[in-house]
Amino acid sequence: MMKPTTPRYLNGRVRLFVGDLTDQTVDAIVNAANSTLLGGGGVDGAIHRRGGPAILEACRELRRSQWPNGLPTGQVEITGGGKLPARYVIHTVGPIFGQHGGQESELLAACYRNAIELAASHQLKSIAFPSISTGAFGYPPEKAALVVSQALHKCLDEITSIDDIRLVFFNASQMETFIAHQKFPR
Ligand code: APR
Repeated sequence: MMKPTTPRYLNGRVRLFVGDLTDQTVDAIVNAANSTLLGGGGVDGAIHRRGGPAILEACRELRRSQWPNGLPTGQVEITGGGKLPARYVIHTVGPIFGQHGGQESELLAACYRNAIELAASHQLKSIAFPSISTGAFGYPPEKAALVVSQALHKCLDEITSIDDIRLVFFNASQMETFIAHQKFPR
């Protein structure tokens, strides 16, 4: 039986995948990091494990040079991809749900918008996101789906140079939740 194709959005520019983000062969994958930029569990751990020490070394340099107090929530920085199939890693820090005085949705939207803008400024054509903040940072996936779809719709209307945007979910049920709650235009 043919695998049902997953839905596409924004004229096919946005596609959904189930699997390991680190398998994605794109120009950049987006890391759901923490402000230390020095690694962690989840996506962050997977990226550093598979990408190797070059990524951590580049993150340490970012801390030394630009972010001595850590990368603020919503901000983005880019490093090489090390041993990953992806050429680059765009590190971002998602909001911890309930910890930002009601600004969580704006901060989550900023992670996606700033990553798209940074990728475009590096002339990248393809980017893959994990479901930022919906793991250890506790963001309810159904609320995140609304924020992410609206943020991507808005910024991808303005930025047309990136034509391959992938949302990678660790399991099918997470993808189903996104599909049920996303608000991309029909
Ligand atoms: N590929 C794709 N998705 C993944 C992977 C992976 N290899 N590993 C985990 N996920 C999913 C989780 O199931 C969740 O849906 O990514 C989403 C984000 O979960 P986390 O990785 O926990 O990220 P986040 O919620 O943003 O919390 C960030 O966790 O790992 C630490 O250092 C990180 O402190 C930071 C915090």
